[in-house]
Amino acid sequence: MNEQTPTVTMEKIVSLSRRRGFVFPSSEIYGGLSGCWDYGPLGIELKRNVKQAWWNAMVQQRDDMVGIETSILMHPKVWIASGHLKNFTDPLVECKSCNQRFRADHLTEKKCPACGGELTAERQFNLMFKTFIGPVEDVSNTIYLRPETAQGMFVNFDNVLQTTRRKLPFGIAQQGKSFRNEITTGNFIFRSREFEQMEMEYFVKPGTDEKWFEYWLNERINWYVKHGIKREHLSVLEHEKAKLAHYAKRVCDITFLYPMGWEEIEGVASRTDFDLKQHAAASGKVLDYYDDETKEHYVPYVIEPAVGVDRSLLAFMCDAYAEEPDKEETRIVMRFHPSLAPVKVAILPLSKKENLSNFARDIYKNLRTTLATQYDDTQSIGRRYRRQDEIGTPYCVTVDFQSLEDNRVTVRERDLMLQIRIPIAELKRTIEAKMAGEDFLKLPPGGEVVQTKVKEG
Ligand code: GAP
Repeated sequence: MNEQTPTVTMEKIVSLSRRRGFVFPSSEIYGGLSGCWDYGPLGIELKRNVKQAWWNAMVQQRDDMVGIETSILMHPKVWIASGHLKNFTDPLVECKSCNQRFRADHLTEKKCPACGGELTAERQFNLMFKTFIGPVEDVSNTIYLRPETAQGMFVNFDNVLQTTRRKLPFGIAQQGKSFRNEITTGNFIFRSREFEQMEMEYFVKPGTDEKWFEYWLNERINWYVKHGIKREHLSVLEHEKAKLAHYAKRVCDITFLYPMGWEEIEGVASRTDFDLKQHAAASGKVLDYYDDETKEHYVPYVIEPAVGVDRSLLAFMCDAYAEEPDKEETRIVMRFHPSLAPVKVAILPLSKKENLSNFARDIYKNLRTTLATQYDDTQSIGRRYRRQDEIGTPYCVTVDFQSLEDNRVTVRERDLMLQIRIPIAELKRTIEAKMAGEDFLKLPPGGEVVQTKVKEG
């Protein structure tokens, strides 16, 4: 495990999230609800972008993948067959003095961390939330909020196979809410009771599972790096065989250097044929695969990369966060990858005069048809740049009186704070090209590099 010092504190991330409207405590006016969070106007854009980046890489850009969306409420027999009713537990201890409850495996000492009191013996606590289906609150009507999205893929294995005529190896992917009645929550959105997952079940021929396990571990690490996570902030932690989850043959956590230290961001698991066999036995349905080439029926093995949206979003925020000295103040800048940035472009007219406003608004309306764009004409240009830096907007476009005459605008890039002046007719295409990785100083026809920076203070 890499020993490194986290580059940002959780206080700074929480404070920026609160201040700029990324994440709020759930039901805050009532004092909040422990382990639940609400995404604000910028947070939801960031979250949608994280989900889209995953969906694009895992489903849309691949021939061997399909997506589905299954319901949160599932037949209670699902959770008996999957083993969750029996095994999806954490060890719980309670303080005999203050009655607070803790996860035994998270404690470093055998006494209450709150008051020092004596603790009860460990007991296993099932993390699934229970509710009733229909109007009668009877035990026979008990159902559960799903604790993982994965079972939706397993119970639909045959539906997908029959309707898409897939050949192995192929995967089924899904994103959606999961719920766990965690004994202790904390570290902001890292561990909550309601969260979102992005999971993929990759069905392979038994015997090829080890090769595919390595493949997916690498793919997933590369995905984080491609979207802005520093490679040195990622690590792999192999689970000890004796501590594997009830369904797993091999599990590796991809860990990230969060402000509180190295913690799991994603799990990659080799689930063998456990789930399909369990559901086949419990439902009486055949859940196997006919191999055209070898003329045999068999139950595929499964490799599963499973990640929490909220947990990966927190990692993207941590690695984007930077502070730089800036005259007497500090410039806080979120260096989000452009594909994840909640706002891609800000249009900043240098005056509120009507002729310039109308002109700038037309540019804004044109850009926002395909790019998340903000219009901001309040306060000094320097303050507006800082506001956009703090929410991670990669490009700011200043519109000045000269623009009315030469039909050109100045584009300023967030990280290096370099500026180019380009024709408005080239603006959208140029920004899209830069977002896709083109060198910022590569100019479109009629463009020039602005040598003297527009005064930012
Ligand atoms: N289907 C396998 C599965 O659910 P997991 O390791 O329990 O495996 C997968 O969960 C991912 O879901 C974790 O790596 C984490 O990113 C996220 N996750 C799990 N519990 C969470 C919680 N209480 N709050 C936020 N994210 C959570």
